[in-house]
Amino acid sequence: MMRVHSAMRSLAVLAIFTSPLVLSACATQEPAAADIERSTVAADLFQSRLQTALKSALQNGGPTAAVNVCAEVAPAIAAEVSAETGVELRRISLRPRNPGANTQGELRQRLTSLGEAPVDAAGKPSMINWVEGKGTDATHNSMRAIIMKDEPCAMCHGTAVAADVRAAIAELYPDDAATGYRAGEMRGAILAKIILSRPRMH
Ligand code: HEC
Repeated sequence: MMRVHSAMRSLAVLAIFTSPLVLSACATQEPAAADIERSTVAADLFQSRLQTALKSALQNGGPTAAVNVCAEVAPAIAAEVSAETGVELRRISLRPRNPGANTQGELRQRLTSLGEAPVDAAGKPSMINWVEGKGTDATHNSMRAIIMKDEPCAMCHGTAVAADVRAAIAELYPDDAATGYRAGEMRGAILAKIILSRPRMH
C-alpha cells in the first residue's frame, strides 16, 4: 500500500514537471517522430524504385541509354511517390546535373553541413529534420544524404566517365556539374516535405 502511494505521488510530481516541457515542445514545433518515419518510408520507396529502373535500363541499353531513362524516370518516380504518400519529394545537390536540383540560401547551408558528415555512426546516410512555418503554413522538412558508390554510380558521376556517356549527358544537361565524385562522398540529398495541416494519406 505504501509503495503504491509513493509511486502515485512521484507520478504526480513527474506530471507537474514534464507538462511545461511538453507545452514548450509544441510551441517550438519540434519534428514529430511520426513525420520523420513517414519521410523515411517515402524516401526509401523513391530510392528503391529508382534503383530498379536504373538497373533494368543499364541491363537493356547500357549507360548511354540509361542516361535518357534516368532523365525521364527519376522525376516521374518522385512525382508518383509524392502522390502516393503525400510526402513531397525531390533531389537536390551542391553540384547538380539537373539545374532544378540546385539549392540556395538556408537550404544550401543545411546541405553543405549534411555533406560534412554524410553518414551517421551506424554507417547509414545522415538525415536532418526540421519544422518550418506556423499554423496552417507549418511544414515538416527532412533532408537525407545520397551517398556516391562505385557501382553503378561512377559510370555517370565518377572521375572517369566514358566519352560516349559524357556526350549523352552533355546533350541533355549542358551545364552538368555532377561528375568527379568519389565513393563515400555525398552525391546529393532527398528533400522531403509534409504539409502538416493537410490530412494524412495512406
Ligand atoms: C546511367 C547514368 C547514371 C547512373 C548510373 C547514375 N546516375 Fe545519377 N543522374 C543521372 C542523370 C541523367 C541525372 C539527372 C536526372 C534528372 O534530370 O532528374 C542524375 C541525377 C542524380 C541526382 C539528382 C541531383 C542532380 O545532380 O541532378 C542524384 C542525387 C544522383 N543522380 C545520384 C546517383 C547515385 C547515388 C547513383 C548510383 C546509385 C547514380 N546517380 C547513378 C545519371 C545517372
